[in-house]
Amino acid sequence: MIPLAMPDLTGNEKKYLDNCIDTTYVSSVGEYVTKFEDMTAQATGSIGAVATSSGTTGLHAALTAAGVKHGDLVIIPTFTFIASANAVRHCGADPWMMDIRTSNWCLDPDLVKTEIEINCRRREDGKLYHKARNKRVAALMPVYTLGNMPDMKAFRGIADAYQIPLIADAACAIGAIYEGQALGPLADMSVLSFNGNKTVTCGGGGAVVGCDHKLLEHVRHLTTTARVWPDYDFDEVGFNYRMTNIQAAVGVAQMERLGSFVDAKRKVRRYYEERLDELQKKGIGFFPATDGASCWFSGIVLPKGTDLENAKEICAKLKKEDIEARPFWKPVHLQAPYLACPRSKLDIAQNLWQRMITLPCSTNITEEELEKVVKAVKECV
Ligand SMILES: Cc1ncc(COP(=O)(O)O)c(C=O)c1O
Repeated sequence: MIPLAMPDLTGNEKKYLDNCIDTTYVSSVGEYVTKFEDMTAQATGSIGAVATSSGTTGLHAALTAAGVKHGDLVIIPTFTFIASANAVRHCGADPWMMDIRTSNWCLDPDLVKTEIEINCRRREDGKLYHKARNKRVAALMPVYTLGNMPDMKAFRGIADAYQIPLIADAACAIGAIYEGQALGPLADMSVLSFNGNKTVTCGGGGAVVGCDHKLLEHVRHLTTTARVWPDYDFDEVGFNYRMTNIQAAVGVAQMERLGSFVDAKRKVRRYYEERLDELQKKGIGFFPATDGASCWFSGIVLPKGTDLENAKEICAKLKKEDIEARPFWKPVHLQAPYLACPRSKLDIAQNLWQRMITLPCSTNITEEELEKVVKAVKECV
C-alpha cells in the first residue's frame, strides 16, 4: 500500500532515542527538549518556543495565556481539524465559525471584519461583545490550512483594531513562508503540531512560538503546572502539557532535515499538478498552495456537483490499487459538539469539503510510487 503520509525516521532518530535511554533522561527535562525548542524557534523566526505534548495542548495553553475564558467566543474557520475548536472549548469558550476563501482554504479576513461589524459592539470597558450571544470575543484564530498563508496583514489589522489577541493555528505549517518571512512574527502566538502525519514529527507533540517573551513565558509556566519553584507552590491552574525528552529526541533528528522534508512536500504537490493537469478539462482542481506554502498535504478537488459519496467511491477504487487516499476535514459546524455555536454564512466550506481527496504525499515517496498514483487517479476519475 502506498500510504497517505508516513514519517521518514531514517536520520538520527534511533541514535538520539538510545541516548535518552542510556542517560535515563526520558521525561520533560533533558537536552533534546531545549535543543528542539531552539531549532523550532529558529525555523519559525521566533524569539522562543515552548514545546508541548501535542498541538492541541499547545493551542489550549496559548489561548489560556491570551486570556480566553469560560463563556467567551473565539473566531475560527469552520474548515479546520476539530482540534482547533476543541482547544477553544477546553478553555470553556465557544468557537465562532466563519467561512474560508476558495483561493487558500483559510479564514476570510473580509468576512471576519464584516461579521464583527454587524454582530458586535464594544462595551465601556473596551471589550468586544457579540450582541446576540452576549459573549466576549476573546481571540481571533486563523488556521494555516495545508501550510497555506492567509492574508496575515489583514488579520493583524483586525486584531489591532478590535484589540483582540491573534493566535495562529499553524499545526500543519512548519516551513511555510509569508512574504519572505517565517511565521513566528505574524501572530501574537502560533502553534505547531508534530503529530505522526505532520511534515516534521515527534511521534506526537506541539510547540507554541512567537515574538512576545512575556506571553511565551506564561505559556511555559502554564504547561509546567504553574509551579513556583523550589517548593510545591502553584500560582494558577496549570497543565501538565510539556513535551518529553523522548519526543524531542525524535523531533531534533527530524528538524535536522526540515529543509529537505519541506522541499519534498512541495515537489509532490508540483508533481500532481503537472502530471494530472489534463484532469482540469473534467473540472478537477488541486489543493491550493499560496506563495511559500509548505504543502503539508496534496490532493485533488472533484468537480462542482459531486459529493462525499463520489469522493469515497474514488478512494475505494484507489485502495484496490493499493493506494491510500481519503476525503479531508469535515467542517466544525457539522460536528456534534459545535452544532449550537455561532457561525457566519459558510457557503464556500460547505460547497468544497465533500469534494476533496488527499493523495499520498510522504516526504520519502518515490518517483515510481508517484507515477503509480498518477496513473491510477487518471483511471479512477
Ligand atoms: C489544523 C490543526 N489544528 C490542530 C491540530 C492538533 O494537533 P495535534 O494532533 O498535535 O494535537 C491538528 C493536527 O492534526 C491540525 O491539523
